[in-house]
Amino acid sequence: MDKKELKPTRVNGATDEVSPGLSRRSLFVAAGAAGVAAASTSFSSGTAEAHSTDWTQPGNNNHVIELQEKSDFPAGEVGIDFYGHCAIKITSPGGASILFDPWRDDPSGAWGLWYKYKFPETLVDITMSTHTHFDHDAIDRPQSTMVLDRMVGTFEFADLKISGFADKHVCRAPGWYPWTNALKEFGVDACPPNNVGHMDMVTYVVETGGIRTLIWGDNRHNPADGFWDAIGRIDVLTMPVDGSQHILSYDQANAIVERLKPKVVIPTHYLGETTTYTLSTLQPADEWVKAQKSHKTLDGPSMKLAAADVAGMDKEFMYFGHHAHKA
Ligand SMILES: [Fe+2]
Ligand SMILES: [Fe+2]
Repeated sequence: MDKKELKPTRVNGATDEVSPGLSRRSLFVAAGAAGVAAASTSFSSGTAEAHSTDWTQPGNNNHVIELQEKSDFPAGEVGIDFYGHCAIKITSPGGASILFDPWRDDPSGAWGLWYKYKFPETLVDITMSTHTHFDHDAIDRPQSTMVLDRMVGTFEFADLKISGFADKHVCRAPGWYPWTNALKEFGVDACPPNNVGHMDMVTYVVETGGIRTLIWGDNRHNPADGFWDAIGRIDVLTMPVDGSQHILSYDQANAIVERLKPKVVIPTHYLGETTTYTLSTLQPADEWVKAQKSHKTLDGPSMKLAAADVAGMDKEFMYFGHHAHKA
């Protein structure tokens, strides 16, 4: 290893005060800053150095070994826990857990302050991310045995099967805030086929307990036909919709719901007062939710779903509102 690589985290010449010295976050701080620097002349002057310190993570892989040694898993409910924004934990009936899209503030500062605290160092077996944007990629924060970042293809473990499908990010903001124009100002293409790499996306289908859940991430509303064929039946659909229509417009999301005909829809990527500042420009998802035929606001950040119950539902909107786990 080059000795230079042992320096503490520095972004644009300033020490990372949030996580001083060597931290697991460091690697991704550098990656985030570099991603924006690549797109921005105004952020290209400094250097970013950082390194993974996963070796400092508390705990160990005993739970994963326990699951690995099992061959039979019980039938039962699937746990869904909300950590705000797009961060959702799915727990299989057998107890295997995956956390999707832990968030952080943009380390370059270009996109401002979004979150009220650092993502909790929650304990999970697997951490996954749909894409490299800061509001989805704090994969260093959860305490997890496995990190599957932007995984395409199929992964099976315990009583979980996860399939990742490569596609593209929304590249034309449909709402009032034209945030995708910023990429043009940075001198890169937001849209395919020559999109900058951070506008690539992976959506995930998680199959466990007889329920198939689609983690949409920030995917575009109109993937090619092959995408729709590949994802198959969807029981639980997560959709990034807020009142500012930052990622998907109401009409785009409604069309996806009509196409997939999920039993349950879970809104994500909206302003939740527990986690997110108004500076994010996001709004709550109340207006979209209340316009639906069947909806309810949950009374906490957790729910459990049984396949037999889900089978009897029809586009039931289940909204976490301002609830989010903080630990
Ligand atoms: Fe994104
Ligand atoms: Fe996002």
